[in-house]
This record gives sequence, structure tokens and C-alpha cells, in this order.
Amino acid sequence: MADLSRRSLIAGICGIATLSLTPLSAEGASVVKKAAGGRLSIRMRDIPKVVAVGESASIGSVKGRPVALLRTGTSTFKAFSLMCPHQGVTVIKQEDGWYCDAHGSKFEVDGALNMGPATSGLPSVPVRVSKGIVTIG
Ligand code: FES
Repeated sequence: MADLSRRSLIAGICGIATLSLTPLSAEGASVVKKAAGGRLSIRMRDIPKVVAVGESASIGSVKGRPVALLRTGTSTFKAFSLMCPHQGVTVIKQEDGWYCDAHGSKFEVDGALNMGPATSGLPSVPVRVSKGIVTIG
């Protein structure tokens, strides 16, 4: 019984830790808008609320598929799908990148493959910056 309680405590702590890794804050989520064609858009001035330079964050779905925005510089970006190239499971954010809990593939902060069984990085998604708006998809 004491062991079960210890397990419950550990499971609870892990759950809290997972929630604390939620990639996009409520404030960040509020500035990501749906755009035409199933794309997402963010005003440049709101980007710091979404992702820091050198980091990536899950920002929502483009055409029904989860995507992350990578901020490569103050005003430069890349985006990639969060669907694991191995079998399509959605990857989750960790401190040092992205992880697929289906079979253990790991990806760098920029979506590059770190460890299989996936054989490629997370697929790129187009990003365009125009007139102060970042459009993803
Ligand atoms: S689906 Fe991601 S590692 Fe298998």
C-alpha cells in the first residue's frame, strides 16, 4: 500500500512536470490567429510572447496538422510539423527538443533528427514574413 502511494505521488509529480512543459502560454496562444487556407498568422510584435530566439514552440494546427515555429533570429523563422516521420504520432516538447513517446524518436529544437527509429527530421512547413505578419503554412 505504501508502494502504491509512492507510485501515485511520482505519477502526480510527472503529470505536473508535463503540464509545466506546455509549449505555448495562454498569452502566446491568444496572439496566434487562424488565417486563410488553414494557415496560422502572428503579428511580428507579438512574436516574443510566442517563442524566444533559438527556441521552438507548438503554435497550433495548420490544415489540421500540429506545427511548431522556430525563431532562428530576431525576425527570422522556420516551421516544422510536429507529426513524427516514423508513424505520424504527435511529438511533445522537452527542455532539449522534441520527443515521440510512441517509439522514442528524439528531435532537436530545430526539428532535426537526434535519434530514431525515425529516419528523418520533422518535416518543414512554409513560413512567410510580410508587412509585419508571420504566416505559417
Ligand atoms: S511514431 Fe514516433 S517514433 Fe514511432
